[in-house]
Amino acid sequence: MTVNEIRQKFIKYFEGKGHVVMPSSSLIPKDDPSVLITTAGMQQFKKWFSNEIKPKYPKTLTIQKCVRTNDIEEVGDKTHLTFFEMLGNFSFGDYFKEESIKWGLEFVEKELGVDRSRIWVSIFAGDDKTPRDDDSEKIWQSLGITDIREFGREDNFWGPTGTEGACGPTTEIYVDDIEIWNLVFNEYYMQPDGILLPLESKGVDTGAGLERVAAKINDLKNVFETDELFQIVKTVQKLSEKTDTKAEKIITDHLRAATFMLADGIRPSNLDRGYVLRRLVRRAVRYGKLIDIKEQNMCSKVAEKIIE
Ligand code: ALA
Repeated sequence: MTVNEIRQKFIKYFEGKGHVVMPSSSLIPKDDPSVLITTAGMQQFKKWFSNEIKPKYPKTLTIQKCVRTNDIEEVGDKTHLTFFEMLGNFSFGDYFKEESIKWGLEFVEKELGVDRSRIWVSIFAGDDKTPRDDDSEKIWQSLGITDIREFGREDNFWGPTGTEGACGPTTEIYVDDIEIWNLVFNEYYMQPDGILLPLESKGVDTGAGLERVAAKINDLKNVFETDELFQIVKTVQKLSEKTDTKAEKIITDHLRAATFMLADGIRPSNLDRGYVLRRLVRRAVRYGKLIDIKEQNMCSKVAEKIIE
């Protein structure tokens, strides 16, 4: 299944469940000085979750372009990318745990064709601030899922992005060894001082990394073998005189992130998001030198493929 087929299936499935398809927002977050870059699908809806703005629709879906650099050193392994696309369905005071879990599982099994024997899930174990997520456990059990593990705040509590906003416990769907989908149940508003207040209306925020999903369901060794990324890797390989699979992947990832950041109006600088962009380009160039790429215009040659 190509990444584009997965995109189309996701749109069709959740549109069929009444979600309004909305475009990805820019990588430059709008009206949100608390974050530098868009890292998740829920960001464009932060004020809908908190009811500062009345939600325009009760249910939406997006395929969001995201940049995350916290795991930049891991890029080149099986799963990490600084730029990726996130499939997400969202509820604003509409459905909650029951439907999102049921639909998530149905999409993974029926639409993506993942065998039940490869699926396990995690739930929030609870701590002194937030109770254990017994409801999600019961819902998974009612659907016949038996491998339910519980983890703490670090793994199974999401958000907020920046210093304040909607957040909540999560339940995650794993296929074999890899988490492919994060279902967040936004029940709280975290204040800048860390205090959690109950949200006026509960919401759902989900995120599945498109490239991870594609790698898993096609039984590929890593995300760089998915059809769209692989075309970029091949472009880098053609320019290089040495075979170094890790460097090729890093150049592919970083230049893809840089190209999308430039397209959204970010420019290299020594500050804030401009610095993130500069660092990505510099790292790509450094890895290009390591694998003896002589082409002076390596970045633009690779970017042409990415744009295509
Ligand atoms: N906002 C959640 C995440 O990014 C879905 O993982």
